[in-house]
Amino acid sequence: MTLIESPAIRWHGDHLELLDQRALPLATRWLRLDNANDSADAIRDMVVRGAPAIGITAAYAVVLAARALGVKASRETLQPAFAVLAASRPTAVNLFWALQRMQALCDIDGIELVDRLAAEAIQIHEDDRAMNHRLAAFGVPLLGEGKRVYTHCNTGALATGGHGTALGIIRTAWAAGRITGVVAGETRPWMQGARLTSWELLQENIPVTLVVDSAAGHVFKGGDIGAVIVGADRITANGDTANKIGTYNLAVLAKHHGIPFIVAAPLSTIDPALANGDAIEIEQRSAAEVRNIQGVPVAPENVPVFNPAFDVTPAQLISAIVTEHGVIERPDTDKMAAHLASAGNPR
Ligand code: MRU
Repeated sequence: MTLIESPAIRWHGDHLELLDQRALPLATRWLRLDNANDSADAIRDMVVRGAPAIGITAAYAVVLAARALGVKASRETLQPAFAVLAASRPTAVNLFWALQRMQALCDIDGIELVDRLAAEAIQIHEDDRAMNHRLAAFGVPLLGEGKRVYTHCNTGALATGGHGTALGIIRTAWAAGRITGVVAGETRPWMQGARLTSWELLQENIPVTLVVDSAAGHVFKGGDIGAVIVGADRITANGDTANKIGTYNLAVLAKHHGIPFIVAAPLSTIDPALANGDAIEIEQRSAAEVRNIQGVPVAPENVPVFNPAFDVTPAQLISAIVTEHGVIERPDTDKMAAHLASAGNPR
């Protein structure tokens, strides 16, 4: 039986397994998924998270739906599965990119379509890891030599098909002896930095220091941060970048301290259909995520809460965007378009 695996996603040919990232680092628990509805719930509930990993999961979820339909699989019969997956999380464009790639293959029916969709999902999964390694090679020279790197959220093997985007660059830079370590912001409210990034780095003996998000300014002032490097959930035609809430704060702080601010993302995260970041839908999540930490109340139960999952960093604050195709320094609309064109306009 087929087994295609990466640290957070296992495809078994007839079902999907996801590492339950909500339980990390305290427990390693895999959830079995047999249909598209449960897969959409897993994306919404943060079992799997990170833009590329969400896209890979959605592609496999389409295969689960197609397998259930068998000879009846077609563009029309798969429509409910595409719709439920598209409604799971709104901001990361990789989800919609993967669904569009799968949908584009639906010009045949039946078992032939099921097989074709399965091959495509595996391709999306395997390509992502390879892309991350290419992206890392382009990104390493952008990190200040002999200094630490500051990162936010989790952009590692757990968030992708393996290796990671921003964290992949960090891994490669550490292996090359270019950086001295990492400072990870804890990333309230889901604590991706505390629970996932520090866990991934410790496993590889890469020196990491965890700080609360509000310590960033103080840390930057200290003078030993050579670069801030983050991932992205959607990059618009002009280079504006949606990423985990708090990223914008870091970009402003980095500018003030003269620290390069780098965004690392595959081409599948670029959405040239949106002119700028104002058009990006920002996911709003529940008040309970802010009123509680790991289920423990930390605020009055009736306090009004605003809980945007992402913010948008204007392109003017970004020193460089790194993709698997190269580096866009000081991104703007013309440079983004030229980058996509030279990559063969994949989007
Ligand atoms: O809410 P999450 O954990 O899915 O948010 C993840 C991020 O913001 C990541 O930085 C982004 O998806 C890039 S992951 C390579």
